[in-house]
Amino acid sequence: MAVLGIESSAHTFGVGVIENGKVLANFKSMYKISDKGLVPSKVADFHSRNGKRAIEAALKKSGIDISDIKGIGYTKGPGIGSCLRTGQLAAKSISLAYSIPIFPVNHALAHVEITKHICGAKNPIALYVSGGNSQILALAENPYKHYYVLGETFDIGVGNMIDVFARAAKLKPAWGSTVARIAESGKYIQMPYTVKGMDFTFTGLLTHAVKQIGSRKIEDISFSIQETAFAMLCEATERALLLTRKKELILCGGVAQSVRLRSMLGGMCSSHNAKLHFAPDEFNADNGAMIAFVAEKMMQSGMRFSIEDADTDQHYRIDKVRVGW
Ligand code: FE2
Repeated sequence: MAVLGIESSAHTFGVGVIENGKVLANFKSMYKISDKGLVPSKVADFHSRNGKRAIEAALKKSGIDISDIKGIGYTKGPGIGSCLRTGQLAAKSISLAYSIPIFPVNHALAHVEITKHICGAKNPIALYVSGGNSQILALAENPYKHYYVLGETFDIGVGNMIDVFARAAKLKPAWGSTVARIAESGKYIQMPYTVKGMDFTFTGLLTHAVKQIGSRKIEDISFSIQETAFAMLCEATERALLLTRKKELILCGGVAQSVRLRSMLGGMCSSHNAKLHFAPDEFNADNGAMIAFVAEKMMQSGMRFSIEDADTDQHYRIDKVRVGW
């Protein structure tokens, strides 16, 4: 009962194969980001050119023939419209050609669910942090089972914030890891810090940090922007943990690869006898296995979608998704 999953919400065209929760393949084809950032039409062209090869590579690695695939999942959103549509088109083509059910998957839900599965977390809250998103999530049972948003960014995602700062400072991609490396030799300088309950904003911090470029050491600005942003996430997440009285936190999404963020959240969790979980980096970065994983869950729980309903939605929110398992 193997299921194929396609992820194409941004610069990665990822293809995964899952069978009863076991990852059989997780292949990625990644658009190389230039100093100019991510140009949506160019990334979509890249995905269109490389998608077929990526699907073939994942199937070869899994040892499963495409005629034995029982379901196909793709990222419905959130993400970049033109990129999402390349994965959607590939999934629709496979669904129609092999007469298998299609599953539109929420990208954030996929990050949370694969991390929960791999780490064996039972009843966690989740901090989902990536380029475009920063949310604190927990499962609710009413009026139907779904993830509700305890807190989130009111403007931009923490990953994008660091990327924009790094581009303004003319640092090289990959910007997040470059800032993290430079920050290791930096000292703290005062930065704006904006948390309201369990929500937060990053543009004030970004604007202030960019204004310091040229007048302060880049190491100090890098250290301070990263330290301030992660402290904001820690404060809001700590509040969510105490409010829900849960004892597990999962960290997921691209920024979950940050060693410094893991360390700060780990310290916070241990002071409340809570456990921090995070998956290996291949599942924090965008990947097809997480899409296949949720597609398989949807299939096993009896959810079905017509080919006409297999759409994309750039702003598809996790709290709109019914968790049917
Ligand atoms: Fe992601």
